[in-house]
Amino acid sequence: SFPVITIDGPSGAGKGTLCLKLAQALNYRLLDSGALYRIVGLKAFEAGLLTDKELTATDEKNIADLTAQLDIQFIPRDSGEVDIVVDGTSVAGEIRNETVGGYASKVAALPKVRAALLALQKNMANEAGLIADGRDMGTVVFPDADAKVYLTASAEARADRRVAQLKQAGQSADYEAILNSIKQRDERDENRSVAPSKPAEDALVLDSSQLDADEVYVKIKKFCQT
Ligand code: CDP
Repeated sequence: SFPVITIDGPSGAGKGTLCLKLAQALNYRLLDSGALYRIVGLKAFEAGLLTDKELTATDEKNIADLTAQLDIQFIPRDSGEVDIVVDGTSVAGEIRNETVGGYASKVAALPKVRAALLALQKNMANEAGLIADGRDMGTVVFPDADAKVYLTASAEARADRRVAQLKQAGQSADYEAILNSIKQRDERDENRSVAPSKPAEDALVLDSSQLDADEVYVKIKKFCQT
């Protein structure tokens, strides 16, 4: 079987950039598991299955059924980035916003949804080495991974980065609103009963609050090679 490196951690810790660089340097495939939950969140919302009310067992079943019917493909582009195609249409641009992030964290708390996405994720390691980015890569999906990392940072540092990203993209950014939403999502992801976001026992935990993206990359690359 092929080597697997898992990179877990909360929203905005810098996993995305790190994983892309690692995958390129090692010539591994990249599993963006967050994108899976974002896709399910978006599709569930569009189907009218996500409301402000608590989700019921029937909602859970309906969302899991919808999940099982999706045809999700990760397609590597020449740029090195990975395009995400659902039922024939690219959704990469549509899922990367905080609204869909919120939908994702709601559906991610449903055990039947997580179960419906498990085989797809495991299968990604069958064709080549894999960098797996998420919350439960080291704890649930790839417990036997060759190297496990939990990349974290203070909520404030993560909010600062998100603000900088948005500004660079020419969008407006409200620091307090972003910090709030990060804290809300952390709270939901860390306290849910199924696959809570936490470091695997054998993971290297790295706090990136005081590190830039290059420093993180150098440290993790070294760790993965030893
Ligand atoms: O990009 P960001 O770190 O903000 O979020 P993401 O990795 O795209 O994940 C979006 C949401 O999906 C998270 O807040 C989690 O609730 C959920 N998720 C999960 O439960 N398990 C994973 N392996 C990945 C994401």
